Parts: sequence; structure tokens; C-alpha cells
Amino acid sequence: MTSQMLRDARKHEEMFGRNVTEAERPSFHLSAYVGWMNDPNGFCYYKGQYHMFYQYYPYEPKWGPMHWGHAVSSDLLHWEYAPAALAPDMPYDQDGCFSGNAAELPDGRLMLMYTGVRKEPQADGTMRDHQTQCLAIGDGINFDKYEGNPVIESNDLPEGFSRADFRDPKVWRLADGTYRCAAGNRPADGSGQILLFESPDGISWKYKKVLAENRCRFGLMWECPDFFPLDGRQVLLTSPQDILPQGFEYHNGNGTLCLIGDYDEETETFHEEFNQSVDYGIDFYAPQTVLTPDGRRVMIGWMQNWDTIEFRAPHGKWQGQMSLPRELSVRNGRLYQAPIRELLAMRENKVEHMDVSLQGEMNFPDIHGRKLDMEIEIRPAQDAELYQKFSIHFAANDMFHTTVSFRPRERVLKIDRKFSGSRRAIIHQRRSKLASGQDGRLRLRLILDRYSVEVFVNDGEQVMSATLYTPLTADQVIFGCDGAAVFDVVKYDLR
Ligand code: FRU
Repeated sequence: MTSQMLRDARKHEEMFGRNVTEAERPSFHLSAYVGWMNDPNGFCYYKGQYHMFYQYYPYEPKWGPMHWGHAVSSDLLHWEYAPAALAPDMPYDQDGCFSGNAAELPDGRLMLMYTGVRKEPQADGTMRDHQTQCLAIGDGINFDKYEGNPVIESNDLPEGFSRADFRDPKVWRLADGTYRCAAGNRPADGSGQILLFESPDGISWKYKKVLAENRCRFGLMWECPDFFPLDGRQVLLTSPQDILPQGFEYHNGNGTLCLIGDYDEETETFHEEFNQSVDYGIDFYAPQTVLTPDGRRVMIGWMQNWDTIEFRAPHGKWQGQMSLPRELSVRNGRLYQAPIRELLAMRENKVEHMDVSLQGEMNFPDIHGRKLDMEIEIRPAQDAELYQKFSIHFAANDMFHTTVSFRPRERVLKIDRKFSGSRRAIIHQRRSKLASGQDGRLRLRLILDRYSVEVFVNDGEQVMSATLYTPLTADQVIFGCDGAAVFDVVKYDLR
């Protein structure tokens, strides 16, 4: 049964969603249909299509009582909006349907598992969240909230585990047909932990154990876990709040942490070994992954930072976009990310300039635009001293530009959007230390989709993402070098 609240949301999005013209939103990155978007939710492949749901407040371009928006795609790049899937219309989720995930039930229906939020008055007169895990089951478009909700209550948790911070279930099915779920929580030490739950049928759930403990190492609360095997290892992704920087890692206050280790399936025990940031740019949080029918593990994150949400699209019709879908792999204990290969089919108008010598600045009349895929290979000029800095300015005109620059001596790659059109005194730049490059050799792939840039470094060893709300008339690309370098550039427009 569709509630009045959900019908209102659907009516609102029908009336206002179509007012957003094509140029006012990204072309192949999913953005809020209308109003506000945050985390990806319920990312799955169901009955021949990818489904992406998202944290959604359709009525204003800012966070509000959370609904779930919905879109479907056959290649994760061309999205079609579907009507909003959930509204906070029940007593147990009246303050929000927070993040969650999806899994198919044995009878073929799609089950959404999400966090229901209800604020409760405390003894001291303040209000505090009570967060529980709930289900909605349906045909992929319409979902009925399960009459037995919530299916995981905070009473089901051991003593001392938080009732207020217990959210973002990730659910998966084992080969034996039973289900598991991982959710974020806080133990008594106030930091974060990921809890594991089990279910014979996806409907009735039981607490199993602590899957991973923060022990105050990486921020405080751990949000939005994802947990999967990859290339013979096990990966836990989670997005810590309030994280302190460590060297060049974890600079975003709220960012995404990747723990790589091994999983003992018998005892369901995760042994972590390596840790790293997932994105070294400004905007990336709360990713989810999907397993494609041909076995690729693909991740999409919310391309936004909670600390810089005042940096907005000027028209105010939508706020919030997802990252590119990224194919993941693990090599030598590190997470690698590559733009999903389906993007190659969108390439056109190839332009190639090889062995270009550069001292000072230059541009090419055939390289410009705001929907671009550019591969750039940089090396020092022969018999010259190692260059100081190589820069690529894009989304540029006389007034605006955003820059990616590399200093080989320090091995530091920097993204700077100070002049992208922002009128806010917020963080606009991020620096990342590369694993290699002190010899001045660097490979970059830059992808622009009107209002964002994603930089894949050295075949995806690192990625830097940032949103840019620069007017689309700023579409020049300028290369610059302090010192002497040689580079190749291959550019494609993206259809
Ligand atoms: C992460 C998050 C989640 C929560 C949701 C609320 O960005 O805070 O933990 O479920 O957003 O919108």
C-alpha cells in the first residue's frame, strides 16, 4: 500500500523533476531527481537491471526527513528515474528512512533493508535518535514495509552498544541460502564498530558478533559498511565520521576507509591487514558496491563531503550526485579503482597529441569541453633537469579554472578548485602523496562530467574526486609546466 506521504513525494518529483534541463545536471553521473541526495542505497542487480536507491529529500536541495529516491540503469551510466521508493511514513521510521541495502528473496521479490529513525525524548529533556533495522519488500518499483518491522531492535544488541548510532545495514546472501547483514554501531568507548547479523530467510534476524572494531583508530562512528571478497582477499569499506588525518591519508573529516585482510568463513572472522583512504580528493563518501553478472565488483559513492555541502549548484533545483561507477581490484594489499569499462562505449571524437614538449603553458584547439575522458602521460624532458611542477587546468576561461598539478620531487598530486566559481570559504584543495613518480613519470586519466572531475592516478592506484559548479561556458583545457616535460594526451568527448 502506498502511503499518502509517498504519493505526495512522487507527485512532487513528477511536477518538479522534469523542470531540470539536461545541461543543469551531470550527464552520466546519477544526480538527485529533484531536491537533495546523499548516500547510495540498495545498490543491486535485479531482474536484468541495476537499481540505485539513494538518501533523498525531494522538497528542498538540503537534507531533510529521509526518503529513498530510485533510478535504474542497464550500464550504470545511463540512468532512468523511477518513482521515490520509501517515505518516512511509519512510527518506527517517522524521522527518516536512513541508508540501507537490498537483496533478492528466494521467491524473487526484492527486499530493501534500511535504518528506521525515531527520535525519543531523554530524561534530560533532549531528543535522541532511536535507530532500528527495517524491511520493505516489493517488485522493484513499489515496496511494502514489512508488518513485523523493525526486524533488528537495539534490544537485540549486547549491553553497552549504542541505540542511537546503529545504522546502514549491508545485506548479502550466502551460497547456503542464508543471509548476513553488517551494520555500523558504537561500542561503549564511543568509537565505531561493525556488527554482523544472520538470518535464515532474510526476514528474521539475530545478532552474531562484532565483525570489525575501530578502537578509536579511524575517526569515531563507522557508517555505511560494505563487505566482500575480492581477488583472494576480503575488503571492508566503511565511512568513519570525525577522522583525524594520518600523514597524507584521511584528510576529509568524513571520508571512506578501506580495510583489506582475510576472512575465515568457518568462524566468520575478519582479520584486517592493510588500511587506506578510498578517495584522495574532496568529495567522496558512503559508497556501496554491486557484483555485476560478469563478476566485476563495482563501487559508487556519494560524490560529496558533509563538510562542504554549502558548495552548491547555483540553480538550487537538485543537490547531490554520485561518483562514477568504479571497477575494484586488490593488488599487493591495495585497492585499485578503474572507471567502469562501459564508459569506453561513450567515447567519441578521439584527439591525440604525442611527445609534446612543454615549458610554460599551452593548449590545443581540439581539446576542450566539460564531458571529457583524457589520458595523460607525463615524463621529464631528456637531458633537462627534473621539472618542478606539471599542471592541467580545466573547466577554464578568463575567470575560472580548476587545476590538477604534480610536483615530482615531493611526489605530491594536488587538486585545487578555488577558482571554480565557489563563493564559500570552505576547503577547495587536497594533496595526495603518490606511491611513485619521483622520476617525473605519471599517468593520469581525468573524467569530466559537467559538474565534477575524477582523476585516476597510475592505473587507479589512487583516485581524487571533486564536484565543481563552474559555468559550463568555462570549457578550456590548458597544460602548464615549471621546467621542461614531455607528455602525451589522448582525449575523447563523452557522448
Ligand atoms: C551517511 C549517513 C548515514 C545515514 C544517512 C542519513 O552519510 O549519515 O549514516 O544513514 O547518511 O541520511
